Amino acid sequence: GHDTTAAAINWVLYLLGHNPEAQKKVHRELDEVFGNTERPVTMDDLKNLRYLECVVKEALRIFPSVPMFARALKEDCCIEGYNVPKGTNVLVITYALHRDPEIFPDPEEFRPERFFPENSKGRHPYAYVPFSAGPRNCIGQRFAQMEEKTLLAVILRRFWVESCQKPEELGLSGELILRPNNGIWIKLKRRPNSGSK
Ligand code: HEM
Repeated sequence: GHDTTAAAINWVLYLLGHNPEAQKKVHRELDEVFGNTERPVTMDDLKNLRYLECVVKEALRIFPSVPMFARALKEDCCIEGYNVPKGTNVLVITYALHRDPEIFPDPEEFRPERFFPENSKGRHPYAYVPFSAGPRNCIGQRFAQMEEKTLLAVILRRFWVESCQKPEELGLSGELILRPNNGIWIKLKRRPNSGSK
């Protein structure tokens, strides 16, 4: 639970560090919600951080912390005209699924707007499954999203992020957790009027 969430936060910082327009929108929302205060984040604040929530979702689309999961078929089934017999081990590769251009046009582009309610309407519920789906899906997903938003709010209330690596320098490694072999390198610049902490 902590490793997946930490990886997800890391990916958000990387993506915002490459997408200044989206980062500006996050900062604008944080400033609206928190003003110039240093008070802790509350549950109500989390509800109001709607754009940040879309950022978190879009980052999990491009870099799902769990890039694949497996199932053993309990019964014969037919997938796209192919008969797949009972007992077969099936891999769902979330990393690839989330890059279907028919569902997510220009899939490599970071566009949090994809997750605005009006743009999510009608999307197949299994087209986006960073937390898996069905009876064995992630029990921690709501908690993970709250944790991500809280930590990101704490960092981004104080800092502007710049990413120092190109995508080809990440050294993506799809082990159980999707992580960059070379770490993520960012610069933090203190924001004006962000207090002393
Ligand atoms: C961004 C963060 C997270 C991601 C991307 C994530 C992703 C996933 C995925 C894809 C699965 C299903 C694997 C499968 O279908 O075989 C899963 C299962 C699970 N997750 Fe998470 N997870 C996250 C955070 C957490 C947290 C914070 C907790 C606990 C507080 C947690 C607890 C669990 C547990 C217990 C299962 C197994 C559920 C079962 O098998 O019935 N996860 N997670």
